Amino acid sequence: MGLLLGAVITVYQQGGRRMAKRSGVNRRGFLRTAGTTALLGAVGAKTSLASETTKIFRPTVGDTFDFDAVYDRVGSNCIKWDNAIRDFGDKIEVGMGIADMDFQAAPCITRALEERCSHENWGYLSRPDAYAQAIVDWNQRRYGLEIDPETVVFTTGVHPGIIAALKAFAPPGTKVLLTTPTYNGFYSDLTFTDTIAEDSQMKLVDGRYSIDWDDFETRAKRSNVFILCNPQNPTGNCWSPADMTRMGEICLEHKVIVLSDEIHCDFVMSGQTYTPFANLPNREIVDNSLTFKAASKTFSLAAMKVAWYFSTNPDLLARTQKHTRADLSSLGMVANHAAITEGEEWLDQLLPYIDANHEFAESYIKKNIPMLGYTKAQGTYLAWLDTHQVAEMIGAHETAERESRTSVEPVPPEDIVQRWFAEHARVFLNPGDSYGTGGADHMRMNLATSRVLVKRALDNIAAALA
Ligand SMILES: Cc1ncc(COP(=O)(O)O)c(C=O)c1O
Repeated sequence: MGLLLGAVITVYQQGGRRMAKRSGVNRRGFLRTAGTTALLGAVGAKTSLASETTKIFRPTVGDTFDFDAVYDRVGSNCIKWDNAIRDFGDKIEVGMGIADMDFQAAPCITRALEERCSHENWGYLSRPDAYAQAIVDWNQRRYGLEIDPETVVFTTGVHPGIIAALKAFAPPGTKVLLTTPTYNGFYSDLTFTDTIAEDSQMKLVDGRYSIDWDDFETRAKRSNVFILCNPQNPTGNCWSPADMTRMGEICLEHKVIVLSDEIHCDFVMSGQTYTPFANLPNREIVDNSLTFKAASKTFSLAAMKVAWYFSTNPDLLARTQKHTRADLSSLGMVANHAAITEGEEWLDQLLPYIDANHEFAESYIKKNIPMLGYTKAQGTYLAWLDTHQVAEMIGAHETAERESRTSVEPVPPEDIVQRWFAEHARVFLNPGDSYGTGGADHMRMNLATSRVLVKRALDNIAAALA
């Protein structure tokens, strides 16, 4: 095993050098000295994947996966690293934006893709029943959630599913309730469907977000649809059955359909629980909802474009299906099927690693970066940082106001803070204002990466703020 790993490190280091040479930039030079476990596997070097397939590190069942290994994605057209470098230049040392993971994929996924690639025909795809059944089994096994396989509807992402439901239940010009700060992508779904956000800002008590129930109900009365995010991106809340029941009751009373986006559900930190909305005991509440899920966060298959939704209510399901057309790709289906049938061991080893990253970030920040606020998330691999002191220190509000005078669009102070972190700490973060009302003065940091990079980002931030 040790020998095999040694050989693999060599292969990947060669890959890393090749890519650095090709791009002409030594962007990731620091990674070469980041630690003995660093796997400098350039995805850019995957152009030669076919010739190197036998050398890829592939643990089998019973093996230990090395999430400390740094998997270099620069040069693969990935948003997380390449867009950060595109926007802020080579100074970016750690890309900690967008919600996907830096780890080398679960070996079962690569194996299944290679096997499928050896059959060189890419005609129209028939979806095997086994795939819907695998989704049902995953949810049953992990969450005790019973889904009728007949009600599983495939989509090419959670976005297309939510858009289909918005088209079904929220005609243009009507309002969609959101508890904010919430996932910024929902706002683009609303733009796409000409619907209007009804932000119910959550209350922040001791670093934890909770629903402002009076405000929620007032806004529910004027909304057609509520988009629940469980666990919530970016705040990390895992919603309790009591909270979701109350949301569900209010929505039922005011004829608001609940769309429960549970894409982050497989990331729950120790001591916390994810409760599927569809597992609430009140059947009327559940029948007033659709649930949207995917394996794309769980196994970082975002660009493989497969997700699904289901509902216990045949009417809601049929009305949403009328707006759904999803032609899945062969490779997307193969990758997703392999992940949820064979990838569980990989995920079960990853979860404590992510949990420890959250712990590490929280204690590091408390100890070394008093200007930042962070309370460990209950779910997701995202850290929601309070940056208001940084904004004050760097005069972000004044700079934003000044820059807005000569800009077509108003410049939010969070953009100034983002730029400051990029320039002074060489770290890319997502600006909080894009997550709706209450997102101001925050930045979102993605912790789904090797701890050496989490530490590097925090060391850089600490040094910049010092
Ligand atoms: C809460 C939430 N929903 C949906 C998505 C996007 O889903 P998809 O890529 O399947 O469209 C994301 C991506 O970050 C997300 O965080």
